[in-house]
Amino acid sequence: MDLSRVAQVAEKENVINLGIGQPEMAILPNEQIQAAMLEYWADPHPHYLAYGHEPGPDNLRHALATFLTAEADDPTAYDDLFISGGASQALDLICTLYTKPGDTIFIEEPTYFLALRIFEDHHLNMVAIPMDDQGLITEALENELKSHRPKFIYTIPTFHNPSGVTQSAERREKLVELSIEHNFLIVADEVYHLLHHFPDEKPPQPLASYVAHETVISVNSFSKILAPGLRLGWIKTAGIHLETLWRSALLDSGGGVNPFAAQPVRIMIESGRLKQYLIELKNLYRRRINALDEALQSASLAKIVTYHKPLGGYFFWLKFPDDFDTEQLWSIAQTHGVGFQRGPSFSHHKGLKNYARLSFAYYSIPQLQEAISRLDTAVKAYLSTT
Ligand SMILES: Cc1ncc(COP(=O)(O)O)c(C=O)c1O
Repeated sequence: MDLSRVAQVAEKENVINLGIGQPEMAILPNEQIQAAMLEYWADPHPHYLAYGHEPGPDNLRHALATFLTAEADDPTAYDDLFISGGASQALDLICTLYTKPGDTIFIEEPTYFLALRIFEDHHLNMVAIPMDDQGLITEALENELKSHRPKFIYTIPTFHNPSGVTQSAERREKLVELSIEHNFLIVADEVYHLLHHFPDEKPPQPLASYVAHETVISVNSFSKILAPGLRLGWIKTAGIHLETLWRSALLDSGGGVNPFAAQPVRIMIESGRLKQYLIELKNLYRRRINALDEALQSASLAKIVTYHKPLGGYFFWLKFPDDFDTEQLWSIAQTHGVGFQRGPSFSHHKGLKNYARLSFAYYSIPQLQEAISRLDTAVKAYLSTT
């Protein structure tokens, strides 16, 4: 079996690829999942090998509701929750059920590059709304609403991918107000909400806490807080949307998503192992953020690069001078043994040429430090050719 073949991971020998936005293999919770599986096998139930209940197993929904009420500062009822096959599957299902080809949706500029691909698969017409350091600019959104009627806006309000920015509470409220006034849905991708790595810097309440208004569908994932291979996530939304989701043909034919994988996850929540693992993850990522920040600050490139030190999530978003081209830098960086994600990948119009996204999720501190030293050399080489 070729263990090196993993989706989204382009690993090249001798290249430290800070473009990889997923957890390092060594920190995935193997022992904890094993312990939860053993607990499950001590009292297995054939029910979970049958087709699952469409909204997801009730026992996971109950456990998750209790967990979110405590951990996400968001009182959650179990029947607000739909268990999905991860955020990607949830986005795809929402597009299937709420749009048809040619419909207009709003997205952020920048945005998660693979969400752009999902929307392209559904042949949606995308209108990009700019962001600043408070998140999506609601005045710009209001302006676009004068000429478009979007089916939904796709937003990543907390520890944004790629920018790391968190939308302010005021803007969240304004966004919800606008969605009610102009009758569009907010598809809030909140997969990083629980990953606030600095204990005193908690984000505002998630958009999930506004679902009572019936305009918010909050998409979440166990990929970032447990393991992507589980293919499990959840949607929190109002009953009317929950019913649309679970009454879909997909769920009718296949039953609820991953009922079997849901059981170790449920046990991890009930036993407190998920809470503990999350604490360990946040401590680890906080140390990595500090180390990466120090490495960047002491590199020569600090003279030309600006960024906000992230408080959560996975990413640093570097801004180079306006005329800088990170596509070109990327080619040079490859020859120096370092990779990153280039800005244009996150832009609907293939702009943002002077930006680069670095992830600290996949590599240890010594590897991150080595990567910045290589990047520094690559930037010098780039500058000497321009
Ligand atoms: C913003 C965002 N949404 C969704 C995903 C994919 O999540 P999942 O693994 O649950 O499909 C990612 C993964 O990188 C992400 O960064």
